[in-house]
Amino acid sequence: MNIAAPQTIYLSDYMAPGWLVESVHLTFKLVPESTRVISRIAFTPNPDAPPQPFMLHGEELKLISAAIDGVAVSPDLTATGLTCAVPDGAFIWEAEVEIAPAKNTALEGLYMSNGMYCTQCEAEGFRKITYYPDRPDVMGVFTVRIESDLPVLLSNGNPAAAGAGWAEWHDPWPKPAYLFALVAGDLVAHNDSFTTMEGRDVDLNIWVRAADLDKCAFGMGALKRSMVWDEQVYGRAYDLDVFNIVAVDDFNMGAMENKGLNIFNSSAVLAKQSTSTDADFQRIEAIIAHEYFHNWTGNRITCRDWFQLCLKEGLTVFRDQSFTGDLHGHAVKRIEDALVMRNRQFQEDAGPLAHPVRPESFVEINNFYTVTVYEKGAELVGMLKRLVGDDGYRAALDLYFTRHDGQAATIEDWLTAFTEATGRDLTQFKRWYAQAGTPRLTVTDDFKNGTYRLHIAQQTLATPGQPDKLPLHIPVAVGLLDITGAEVVPTTLLELTEAQQTFTFDGLASKPVPSILRNFSAPVIVERDVTQAEQAFLLTHDTDPFNRWDAGRSLGQAVLLDMIASGGDLDAAYIDGLRAALTDSTLDPAMRALLLAMPSEADLAIALAGQGQIPDPDAIHQTRRKAHRQLAMALANDIPPVLASVQIDAPFAPDADQGGRRALSNSLLALLIWSDNGNAAQAQFDSADNMTQQLAALSILLAHGAGDTAAQAFYDQWHHDRLVLNKWFAVQISAAQPQDAVAVATHLTQHPNFEWKNPNRFRSVIGALTGNQAGFHHADGAGYDFVADWLIKLDPVNPQTTARMVAGFDSMRRWDDARRAKMHSALTRIKDTPGLSRDTSEMVTRLLS
Ligand code: PHE
Ligand code: ZN
Repeated sequence: MNIAAPQTIYLSDYMAPGWLVESVHLTFKLVPESTRVISRIAFTPNPDAPPQPFMLHGEELKLISAAIDGVAVSPDLTATGLTCAVPDGAFIWEAEVEIAPAKNTALEGLYMSNGMYCTQCEAEGFRKITYYPDRPDVMGVFTVRIESDLPVLLSNGNPAAAGAGWAEWHDPWPKPAYLFALVAGDLVAHNDSFTTMEGRDVDLNIWVRAADLDKCAFGMGALKRSMVWDEQVYGRAYDLDVFNIVAVDDFNMGAMENKGLNIFNSSAVLAKQSTSTDADFQRIEAIIAHEYFHNWTGNRITCRDWFQLCLKEGLTVFRDQSFTGDLHGHAVKRIEDALVMRNRQFQEDAGPLAHPVRPESFVEINNFYTVTVYEKGAELVGMLKRLVGDDGYRAALDLYFTRHDGQAATIEDWLTAFTEATGRDLTQFKRWYAQAGTPRLTVTDDFKNGTYRLHIAQQTLATPGQPDKLPLHIPVAVGLLDITGAEVVPTTLLELTEAQQTFTFDGLASKPVPSILRNFSAPVIVERDVTQAEQAFLLTHDTDPFNRWDAGRSLGQAVLLDMIASGGDLDAAYIDGLRAALTDSTLDPAMRALLLAMPSEADLAIALAGQGQIPDPDAIHQTRRKAHRQLAMALANDIPPVLASVQIDAPFAPDADQGGRRALSNSLLALLIWSDNGNAAQAQFDSADNMTQQLAALSILLAHGAGDTAAQAFYDQWHHDRLVLNKWFAVQISAAQPQDAVAVATHLTQHPNFEWKNPNRFRSVIGALTGNQAGFHHADGAGYDFVADWLIKLDPVNPQTTARMVAGFDSMRRWDDARRAKMHSALTRIKDTPGLSRDTSEMVTRLLS
């Protein structure tokens, strides 16, 4: 086979499409190995486009026939599409192609999962279904006919007609091909309904295999809450008569927002008390909301090209974060989101994979569904809102929706809506979209004659392809406390626009203690010489819940780094601070659990690297364990009463209150095991009536080498449930000690239930290992070889999931020479694999550069 060299695509090369699609009619004759797809597309020339040849994308298609205006044609075929001579004006294109969904293991295009047919077209999967202008700025009205003996046949839009062995769907809203979807299978529905604020009655269904019907109620509730919220907060109502969600076991990502027919990884929608943790419930609600919110931010207004991906993803993540905060509390949610930024996005921004929120080039767009585009993209929306205020934000969004409804838009369109609605000049702010890397703010202060001055300097380090950085427009929320802990200046938004700037506060009686970057007002790193005493002071007194937590976190980090350097014991003042937080009954349990959490091993490695040191993953692991044990001993008398106070007497509910109580009691259980031989954890494991408590108990037992019996019991109880089994695989690896982790993972890959072609199962073993820092980076390098072997094996089967998981190597530069050399050779081995996919090859090349 002749594979063309991978091409780099540039934003600056954008060219409007030569032809537009008025309408599409598709007929699917579904057969596992030989499905026929018959297309009829009405094209019109695009008056606004430069002259260009007529070209349709198409990959891995067998062309049976093609015709223009009813006359057979013989197009020129290439590996990526076709070209053909066409008439001057409008014309009708007809083609029949054959595809083999049963052989499609890449899970892109039309494929099969457990006997059902389903599709995944974002970003460029539609071209594996039929010949088409597969680009988001070509929007057409789709009518779809499905022929199959399977009982449930679904596509986008509203049902149009059906008979024995066929069904037709019509979607009145013009859409790009990446939002096309089709499902056919032996499915049952959990059904409900919703009446929109415009009075439209909408039929709601979650389609699953019969055995999963008892796991749909929570997702349905989440969907209805999302529909209400988008009406109340953004004034956006649903626009079809039916909204279908389908659960699929084999899926590369979390879920997909296809118009009217969202397709979900079953792990992102199915939930019930006995099988799902509180974290699962919260994630599921957020993903259902996210996909639903895309109906306006993504579908009604889509992206002009894939460089604009953050236009829909950053905004939609921001919307789902606000939704979760509104429903369950903003303080805890903000901390969770900041942790994702700091632990994952800052790391991406600091390594070889760093890229702007709006990249300027790519080889494979699938590699840019990243925490930078999504989560940093959401932070940019949050900063815009902070800068223009709540009313300005609402006005800007209203203008954006009215002006661009039905269009494929750009970041320029988005920012123009803000400028026109609010009068704010966002020229400098726009740099956030183009400049990669995490800005560092260096803060110093002074005080004289009642005047307090904050000096803030900003600097962003070089990233691949961007050696020189410009100053950004950064909203920095600041409050000032006096020595007694009283707030003398409430939260004030400073706008940093220069490389160095001074902000002045007058009329103060004494030198205040600053609380900087309240509520994580910008995705930046703040560097400031703060004493541990001052951190302890903020941990006790800060009125901003985020910064109060953050003071505890910085203190914990400083204390642990001291321990790593000195080999000494856990600091007594830190223990007192944690005890105060633990026993403070005015704090809700979720917040106390967050305050009690010590910085993660990855946190500590990043912090050490940030100080120019070379972290030792084993020393980090051992020190953190020792600190945890010493904390447990020190708090031994405080734990029982707190544990008693957070017991739940009500029936199970996956809500914030109960979730917080369970989170805190699980943190305490993890401390108790240092002194009770695992009795409390074993008792919780034996009696748990929900997965949060059962899994936490198992994890704690395993981490102390006391979990073998529980792990076997867990397997016996849950081996029939694929989603729970993923947890069983993952927890044994996550909880393994550094020297055992690779052996445990290797052993599990030999287990009969290790279905490695299923992305969830693959991630639950190979992903769990890359997530166990000390295990993956164990000095012998066995972790690197193990992961490389499996990625090489998965690549020809599923390039997209392989490429995502190679990113586990992106911490490479942080480690010592010996580890770096071993990682380098593992990556080189992947890179040199004959026939490596374009997806994986782009990632490995970037990692090695
Ligand atoms: N657009 C999807 C989302 O954000 C993610 C996705 C991308 C799913 C590509 C599949 C393939 O929800
Ligand atoms: Zn999305």
